[in-house]
Amino acid sequence: ELSPAEKGKFISARRAVDYVQDGMKLGLGTGSTAAWMVKCLARRVQQEGLQISCAATSTRTAELAKSLGLDVRALDDLGWLDLTIDGADEFDPELSLIKGGGAALLQEKIVASASDQMIVITDPAKEVASLGAFPLPVEVIPFGAMTTKALIEQMLTEMDVAGREVTLRMAGDKALRTDENNLILDLHLQKIGNARELSLMLNQIPGVVENGLFIDICDIVVIGDGAGKVTVKDISD
Ligand code: A5P
Repeated sequence: ELSPAEKGKFISARRAVDYVQDGMKLGLGTGSTAAWMVKCLARRVQQEGLQISCAATSTRTAELAKSLGLDVRALDDLGWLDLTIDGADEFDPELSLIKGGGAALLQEKIVASASDQMIVITDPAKEVASLGAFPLPVEVIPFGAMTTKALIEQMLTEMDVAGREVTLRMAGDKALRTDENNLILDLHLQKIGNARELSLMLNQIPGVVENGLFIDICDIVVIGDGAGKVTVKDISD
Protein backbone atom coordinates (compact mmCIF):
# COMPACT_ATOMS: atom_id res chain seq x y z
CA GLU A 1 0.00 0.00 0.00
CA LEU A 2 1.49 3.34 -1.10
CA SER A 3 1.52 6.49 1.05
CA PRO A 4 -0.53 9.38 -0.44
CA ALA A 5 2.69 11.12 -1.54
CA GLU A 6 4.01 8.03 -3.35
CA LYS A 7 0.59 7.35 -4.85
CA GLY A 8 0.50 10.85 -6.36
CA LYS A 9 3.93 10.31 -7.91
CA PHE A 10 2.97 6.89 -9.21
CA ILE A 11 -0.28 7.96 -10.88
CA SER A 12 1.31 11.00 -12.54
CA ALA A 13 4.11 8.76 -13.84
CA ARG A 14 1.68 6.13 -15.10
CA ARG A 15 -0.41 8.73 -16.93
CA ALA A 16 2.66 10.32 -18.55
CA VAL A 17 3.79 6.93 -19.85
CA ASP A 18 0.51 6.82 -21.86
CA TYR A 19 2.14 9.42 -24.15
CA VAL A 20 4.83 6.94 -25.19
CA GLN A 21 4.38 5.36 -28.62
CA ASP A 22 6.08 2.47 -30.34
CA GLY A 23 9.37 3.41 -31.99
CA MET A 24 10.01 6.48 -29.85
CA LYS A 25 13.36 7.71 -28.60
CA LEU A 26 12.87 8.80 -24.99
CA GLY A 27 14.68 10.88 -22.39
CA LEU A 28 14.39 9.46 -18.88
CA GLY A 29 14.42 11.92 -15.97
CA THR A 30 15.87 11.58 -12.48
CA GLY A 31 14.32 11.51 -9.01
CA SER A 32 11.71 9.58 -7.07
CA THR A 33 8.84 10.47 -9.44
CA ALA A 34 10.92 9.69 -12.53
CA ALA A 35 11.82 6.32 -10.97
CA TRP A 36 8.10 5.45 -11.01
CA MET A 37 7.98 6.49 -14.66
CA VAL A 38 10.88 4.16 -15.53
CA LYS A 39 9.06 1.29 -13.82
CA CYS A 40 5.75 2.04 -15.60
CA LEU A 41 7.60 2.38 -18.92
CA ALA A 42 9.44 -0.92 -18.49
CA ARG A 43 6.12 -2.60 -17.78
CA ARG A 44 4.49 -1.18 -20.92
CA VAL A 45 7.51 -2.10 -23.06
CA GLN A 46 7.39 -5.66 -21.73
CA GLN A 47 3.63 -6.13 -21.98
CA GLU A 48 3.19 -4.53 -25.39
CA GLY A 49 6.56 -5.41 -26.95
CA LEU A 50 7.30 -1.76 -27.79
CA GLN A 51 10.54 -0.85 -29.57
CA ILE A 52 11.80 2.05 -27.47
CA SER A 53 15.31 3.41 -26.97
CA CYS A 54 16.20 5.69 -24.09
CA ALA A 55 18.78 8.26 -22.99
CA ALA A 56 19.09 8.64 -19.22
CA THR A 57 19.67 11.91 -17.33
CA SER A 58 21.82 10.33 -14.61
CA THR A 59 23.80 7.20 -13.82
CA ARG A 60 21.13 6.39 -11.20
CA THR A 61 18.36 6.40 -13.79
CA ALA A 62 20.51 4.55 -16.35
CA GLU A 63 21.13 1.75 -13.84
CA LEU A 64 17.46 1.46 -12.89
CA ALA A 65 16.34 1.45 -16.54
CA LYS A 66 18.91 -1.17 -17.55
CA SER A 67 18.01 -3.37 -14.58
CA LEU A 68 14.40 -3.36 -15.82
CA GLY A 69 15.44 -4.38 -19.33
CA LEU A 70 15.10 -1.03 -21.10
CA ASP A 71 17.39 -0.21 -24.02
CA VAL A 72 19.59 2.61 -22.66
CA ARG A 73 21.95 4.38 -25.08
CA ALA A 74 24.22 7.39 -25.02
CA LEU A 75 22.34 10.57 -25.97
CA ASP A 76 24.68 11.12 -28.91
CA ASP A 77 23.88 7.66 -30.26
CA LEU A 78 20.20 8.60 -30.38
CA GLY A 79 20.57 12.22 -31.49
CA TRP A 80 17.19 13.92 -31.32
CA LEU A 81 14.55 12.52 -28.92
CA ASP A 82 10.77 12.38 -29.29
CA LEU A 83 9.87 12.85 -25.64
CA THR A 84 11.48 13.38 -22.24
CA ILE A 85 9.58 12.63 -19.03
CA ASP A 86 11.08 14.01 -15.83
CA GLY A 87 10.18 15.30 -12.37
CA ALA A 88 10.69 18.86 -11.12
CA ASP A 89 11.07 20.71 -7.85
CA GLU A 90 8.74 23.62 -8.71
CA PHE A 91 6.59 24.69 -11.66
CA ASP A 92 4.76 27.97 -12.28
CA PRO A 93 1.72 28.91 -14.44
CA GLU A 94 3.94 29.28 -17.55
CA LEU A 95 5.31 25.76 -16.88
CA SER A 96 8.73 27.21 -16.09
CA LEU A 97 10.56 24.91 -13.70
CA ILE A 98 13.17 24.69 -10.99
CA LYS A 99 15.04 21.40 -11.25
CA GLY A 100 18.18 19.93 -9.75
CA GLY A 101 17.06 18.90 -6.27
CA GLY A 102 18.53 15.54 -7.24
CA ALA A 103 21.72 17.19 -8.59
CA ALA A 104 21.11 15.98 -12.16
CA LEU A 105 20.09 19.33 -13.69
CA LEU A 106 22.86 19.50 -16.29
CA GLN A 107 22.09 16.20 -17.98
CA GLU A 108 18.37 16.82 -17.45
CA LYS A 109 18.55 20.13 -19.31
CA ILE A 110 20.67 18.73 -22.14
CA VAL A 111 18.30 15.79 -22.62
CA ALA A 112 15.08 17.85 -22.35
CA SER A 113 16.48 20.44 -24.78
CA ALA A 114 17.18 17.66 -27.28
CA SER A 115 13.55 16.48 -27.20
CA ASP A 116 10.51 17.42 -29.26
CA GLN A 117 8.44 17.38 -26.10
CA MET A 118 9.01 17.47 -22.34
CA ILE A 119 6.44 16.19 -19.87
CA VAL A 120 6.91 16.91 -16.17
CA ILE A 121 5.39 14.55 -13.61
CA THR A 122 4.67 15.95 -10.19
CA ASP A 123 2.47 16.22 -7.14
CA PRO A 124 0.31 19.32 -6.42
CA ALA A 125 2.68 20.68 -3.74
CA LYS A 126 5.24 21.70 -6.40
CA GLU A 127 2.88 24.16 -8.10
CA VAL A 128 3.78 27.77 -7.24
CA ALA A 129 2.58 31.21 -8.39
CA SER A 130 6.19 32.35 -8.68
CA LEU A 131 9.40 30.29 -8.62
CA GLY A 132 12.06 30.55 -5.93
CA ALA A 133 10.92 29.09 -2.60
CA PHE A 134 12.85 25.95 -3.57
CA PRO A 135 16.58 26.80 -3.54
CA LEU A 136 17.83 27.18 -7.12
CA PRO A 137 20.61 24.67 -7.90
CA VAL A 138 23.53 25.92 -9.98
CA GLU A 139 26.19 23.52 -11.28
CA VAL A 140 29.72 24.99 -11.14
CA ILE A 141 33.11 23.58 -12.03
CA PRO A 142 35.33 22.77 -9.02
CA PHE A 143 38.15 25.12 -10.15
CA GLY A 144 37.64 28.44 -8.37
CA ALA A 145 34.23 27.41 -7.05
CA MET A 146 34.36 29.81 -4.09
CA THR A 147 35.25 32.66 -6.44
CA THR A 148 32.31 31.68 -8.64
CA LYS A 149 30.13 31.67 -5.50
CA ALA A 150 31.31 35.20 -4.65
CA LEU A 151 30.53 36.37 -8.20
CA ILE A 152 27.04 34.91 -7.94
CA GLU A 153 26.47 36.63 -4.58
CA GLN A 154 27.64 39.92 -6.04
CA MET A 155 25.26 39.50 -8.97
CA LEU A 156 22.34 38.70 -6.66
CA THR A 157 22.83 41.90 -4.66
CA GLU A 158 22.38 43.82 -7.92
CA MET A 159 19.22 41.90 -8.89
CA ASP A 160 15.57 41.81 -7.97
CA VAL A 161 15.64 38.75 -5.70
CA ALA A 162 14.45 38.47 -2.10
CA GLY A 163 17.14 36.13 -0.71
CA ARG A 164 20.86 36.07 -1.41
CA GLU A 165 22.23 33.16 0.58
CA VAL A 166 24.30 30.69 -1.47
CA THR A 167 25.31 27.32 -0.03
CA LEU A 168 27.56 24.53 -1.27
CA ARG A 169 25.60 21.26 -1.58
CA MET A 170 27.08 18.58 0.67
CA ALA A 171 26.87 14.78 0.61
CA GLY A 172 27.64 13.85 4.20
CA ASP A 173 30.79 15.73 5.23
CA LYS A 174 32.07 16.17 1.65
CA ALA A 175 31.00 18.50 -1.14
CA LEU A 176 28.57 16.68 -3.42
CA ARG A 177 29.95 15.81 -6.86
CA THR A 178 27.60 15.59 -9.83
CA ASP A 179 27.76 12.91 -12.53
CA GLU A 180 30.04 15.31 -14.40
CA ASN A 181 32.24 15.68 -11.30
CA ASN A 182 31.13 19.28 -10.74
CA LEU A 183 29.75 20.99 -7.60
CA ILE A 184 26.26 22.31 -6.84
CA LEU A 185 25.60 25.72 -5.28
CA ASP A 186 22.07 26.20 -3.92
CA LEU A 187 20.73 29.76 -4.22
CA HIS A 188 18.22 30.54 -1.46
CA LEU A 189 16.32 33.27 -3.27
CA GLN A 190 12.81 32.88 -1.77
CA LYS A 191 11.28 34.58 -4.77
CA ILE A 192 12.66 35.01 -8.29
CA GLY A 193 11.41 38.16 -9.99
CA ASN A 194 12.60 37.56 -13.54
CA ALA A 195 13.57 33.93 -14.07
CA ARG A 196 14.57 34.43 -17.70
CA GLU A 197 16.99 37.24 -16.85
CA LEU A 198 18.40 35.40 -13.83
CA SER A 199 19.04 32.27 -15.90
CA LEU A 200 20.89 34.20 -18.61
CA MET A 201 22.96 36.16 -16.10
CA LEU A 202 23.96 33.09 -14.10
CA ASN A 203 25.11 31.30 -17.24
CA GLN A 204 27.33 34.26 -18.15
CA ILE A 205 29.49 33.77 -15.04
CA PRO A 206 32.56 31.82 -16.22
CA GLY A 207 32.56 29.01 -13.61
CA VAL A 208 28.84 28.31 -13.99
CA VAL A 209 28.07 25.31 -16.15
CA GLU A 210 24.27 25.45 -15.99
CA ASN A 211 21.42 26.45 -13.68
CA GLY A 212 18.22 24.67 -12.66
CA LEU A 213 15.77 27.10 -14.31
CA PHE A 214 13.95 25.41 -17.21
CA ILE A 215 12.20 28.10 -19.27
CA ASP A 216 10.30 27.36 -22.50
CA ILE A 217 11.34 23.71 -22.24
CA CYS A 218 8.40 21.96 -20.56
CA ASP A 219 5.23 21.43 -22.66
CA ILE A 220 2.97 19.44 -20.34
CA VAL A 221 2.73 18.97 -16.58
CA VAL A 222 0.93 15.89 -15.25
CA ILE A 223 -0.06 16.33 -11.60
CA GLY A 224 -1.08 13.33 -9.51
CA ASP A 225 -2.56 13.74 -6.03
CA GLY A 226 -2.71 11.32 -3.11
CA ALA A 227 -6.43 10.71 -3.68
CA GLY A 228 -5.78 9.33 -7.17
CA LYS A 229 -6.79 12.38 -9.22
CA VAL A 230 -4.71 13.38 -12.24
CA THR A 231 -4.67 16.90 -13.71
CA VAL A 232 -2.92 17.72 -16.98
CA LYS A 233 -1.69 21.23 -17.77
CA ASP A 234 -0.65 21.94 -21.32
CA ILE A 235 1.39 25.02 -22.30
CA SER A 236 -1.20 25.75 -25.01
CA ASP A 237 -4.06 25.88 -22.40
C1 A5P B 1 16.81 15.92 -10.21
O1 A5P B 1 17.96 16.65 -10.42
C2 A5P B 1 15.64 16.83 -10.09
O2 A5P B 1 15.54 17.77 -11.09
C3 A5P B 1 14.37 16.02 -9.97
O3 A5P B 1 13.69 15.91 -11.15
C4 A5P B 1 13.56 16.69 -8.95
O4 A5P B 1 14.37 16.88 -7.81
C5 A5P B 1 12.30 15.92 -8.59
O5 A5P B 1 12.58 14.83 -7.79
P1 A5P B 1 11.45 14.03 -7.04
O6 A5P B 1 10.57 13.44 -8.11
O7 A5P B 1 12.18 13.00 -6.24
O8 A5P B 1 10.70 15.00 -6.17
